[in-house]
Amino acid sequence: MIQFLLNQTLRHEHNLDPNLTVLDYLRNHAGKPGTKEGCASGDCGACTVVVGELHEGALRYRSLNACLTFVSALQGKQLLSVEDLKHQGQLHSVQQAMVDCHGSQCGFCTPGFVMSLFALQKNTCQADAGQAHEALAGNLCRCTGYRPILAAAEQACAPQRPADQFDAAQAQTIARLQALATSASAELNDGHKRCLVPTHLAELAELYSAHPEARLLAGGTDLALEVTQQHRELPLMIYLGNVAELNGIEVFADRVEIGAATPLTDCYSALNAEYPDFGALLQRFASLQIRNQGTLGGNIGNASPIGDSPPLLIALGAQVRLRQGANTRTVALQDYFIDYRITVRQPGEFIEKVIVPRADPARAFRAYKVSKRLDDDISAVCAAFNLHIEQGIVRDARIAFGGMAATPKRAKACEAALLGQPWAQASIERACAALAADFTPLSDFRASKAYRLLTAQNLLRKYFIELQTPHVQTRVSAYV
Ligand code: FES
Ligand code: FES
Repeated sequence: MIQFLLNQTLRHEHNLDPNLTVLDYLRNHAGKPGTKEGCASGDCGACTVVVGELHEGALRYRSLNACLTFVSALQGKQLLSVEDLKHQGQLHSVQQAMVDCHGSQCGFCTPGFVMSLFALQKNTCQADAGQAHEALAGNLCRCTGYRPILAAAEQACAPQRPADQFDAAQAQTIARLQALATSASAELNDGHKRCLVPTHLAELAELYSAHPEARLLAGGTDLALEVTQQHRELPLMIYLGNVAELNGIEVFADRVEIGAATPLTDCYSALNAEYPDFGALLQRFASLQIRNQGTLGGNIGNASPIGDSPPLLIALGAQVRLRQGANTRTVALQDYFIDYRITVRQPGEFIEKVIVPRADPARAFRAYKVSKRLDDDISAVCAAFNLHIEQGIVRDARIAFGGMAATPKRAKACEAALLGQPWAQASIERACAALAADFTPLSDFRASKAYRLLTAQNLLRKYFIELQTPHVQTRVSAYV
């Protein structure tokens, strides 16, 4: 059984299909069809809902894509959909702002926009334009145009906003979620499929050792696509989001340790503080809804050749701590990926932590994402450069790419061409030529093989220019 609050109603769900998404749950089981399905793949935001959860004793609201969230992930949380906003016959202030600013035409996207705005309102005292853009970058509208919607964001997130029913019920909601948090681990089981929801690391390790065939469900932003896009069945999942030890970040003198199930949104501050380019790339990683849900461990664990964090982490010399039962081992991330979607992870073994070295002021780290649009897009090429240059000579070089091979990978020939060489244009050109020996990229709908190789070479040239002229800061807005 799993338990959660549907607005203020406690739901106990016993026999639901664990492959059921929150979107289908709301529409087909809870009688709440206000949440819409546009793409069923996390791209349009029409299905945006808000989930309330306990965070350091307080209540935190976050927008999520209901089409990518399995119901098991609601265990111990509060689910809010657009139907919950109107109260005692009055529109909520975000709904009223959309009306006042003419933020809706056909209305299909509107529930998603309203819920993204609601989360923004809850998370800011006064949202500026940048925060509004970030909150809405994962919501697509085909007919209204964004100016009226951004005006609605400004009105809804102004400092003098009226208290709402959620503010009034906050203490009660926290108490009810605390009561749910003390309940034992949960399971959703319809007789054919199961999703296990452990709460502690030892329990997870035991379950996964006993069921190595289970699929690990972290944010689910990739895994859910197997159900919604490929119509596969996932007979057994283990949900990681409630495992306390996998959620959180610890900063040590020499490293940052990030629990594998920590959402990307929570990783932002720690990584941005050490490596501003990592922070900038995280902002372009995906929509806010996806970043609220997707995890750093998941981005590594699914072993996609176009995952955005692995090239950066490899260039930084990051490691992963793997656990299998009571045994742990630490593996350099550059050695973690073996071949396309194949890793060193053994049956029953999972990623417990991602260990990232603290920034070294002697090194110059830069990261670049090249994609067809700025937000909410997948990389054609992702590059990360981490060099130690002393007295004009390259003393150490760590360079890694995504989108250039079957795995995220270091550019060893390129690095060798730079090592011990003067930091000068001629060395860069020799290193660019060496990149052709490192990679034989594929052609696909994102980019051709020739384009990818030339882009990789040009990104190295760009890195060189940026280090020569630090005021040139164009890396965040790289497009195909
Ligand atoms: Fe498009 Fe969920 S339906 S993001
Ligand atoms: Fe029609 Fe946005 S109002 S899609």
